[in-house]
Amino acid sequence: MSATTLDDTSRANSSDSQWAVETHGLTKRFGDNAAVNDVELLVPRGCAFGYLGPNGAGKTTLIRVLLGLTHADAGTMSMLGFSVPRRRDLALARVGAIVDEPRFHGHLTGRQNLQILAAARERAAKDRIEASLERVGMAQRADDRVSKYSMGMRQRLGVAACLLGDPELLILDEPMNGLDPAGMHEMRDMIQSLVAEGRTVMLSSHLLDEVERTCDAVAIVDNGKVIRQGPIAELLAGASMEVNVECSSPERARTILAATALGAQIDVETSGLSIHLAAGTGRDAIAEINRLLVEEGIAVYRLQEVQVSLESWFLQVTSRLGEPA
Ligand SMILES: Nc1ncnc2c1ncn2[C@@H]1O[C@H](COP(=O)(O)OP(=O)(O)OP(=O)(O)O)[C@@H](O)[C@H]1O
Ligand SMILES: [Mg+2]
Repeated sequence: MSATTLDDTSRANSSDSQWAVETHGLTKRFGDNAAVNDVELLVPRGCAFGYLGPNGAGKTTLIRVLLGLTHADAGTMSMLGFSVPRRRDLALARVGAIVDEPRFHGHLTGRQNLQILAAARERAAKDRIEASLERVGMAQRADDRVSKYSMGMRQRLGVAACLLGDPELLILDEPMNGLDPAGMHEMRDMIQSLVAEGRTVMLSSHLLDEVERTCDAVAIVDNGKVIRQGPIAELLAGASMEVNVECSSPERARTILAATALGAQIDVETSGLSIHLAAGTGRDAIAEINRLLVEEGIAVYRLQEVQVSLESWFLQVTSRLGEPA
């Protein structure tokens, strides 16, 4: 069995639930503070899934509850179809996780650290050490002490440690933390290649941009609550559409459009209009804007649909997330 491909037997042994992670009403309180607040989470198998929220949103706490590092106060949860805590052993045998930061013995080498971790797992884990080191690009540095590793190297060794168990599901808490742009790029490629092998990667992050680039689906969490979740493309399709218009007489153009049934929010800019159309508005509305203006003698120099990014959508659904953490 190699560490680089998900073994068919481990796939066959696991439950056939379509969800890698499923929670219902999951709640974890610290005193009055519900760090995880009635969370309904569905992480589909075989994708990169981002658990996205600002500092203190409850990302690490949710991961800790899933892994059994702390108890839930209410709700149910399962991983790979195994209900936890009841069948946690079966679930965890198929899960690799890094919580907070990967922790290693600094005075030992990367390879020695993996040997210690493999010794605590099933026999096959030892045979996966070399392939895991290769897989994360750490084979050359495997005999250096971990204390000499950069943050990016530690993160990669952390992923190598996860791969010792040939996991179906990897849960990575803030895997981009402390990485420079090149390191983030490598981590992104690594996550995508793990998904290409048939694994599921659930990662937490406060970095919108990285989640948008890395993940197929996302849950947005704030104050312990999941506000929205789903495939990024679907979430963005439900966002409002923005159209920029360069035209003559912007004020008059605004009056003309405001008198129609477009239902748009229209702001006058120096050289034209910025128009926000409600979620679900079809692109025909853009042609309609053009027609209305031209019929009234307004010269339209340019009409541009602005691509909604996850970030602007994020700000549409919650204003607090736009503030610095
Ligand atoms: N052991 C604890 N005791 C008391 N409160 C805690 C504990 N751990 C977390 N909290 C609180 O729970 C909330 C969620 O914290 P958590 O660490 O899960 O957030 P996070 O989304 O991972 O944040 P970050 O992006 O900073 O890592 C915060 O209000 C935090 O203060
Ligand atoms: Mg955290």
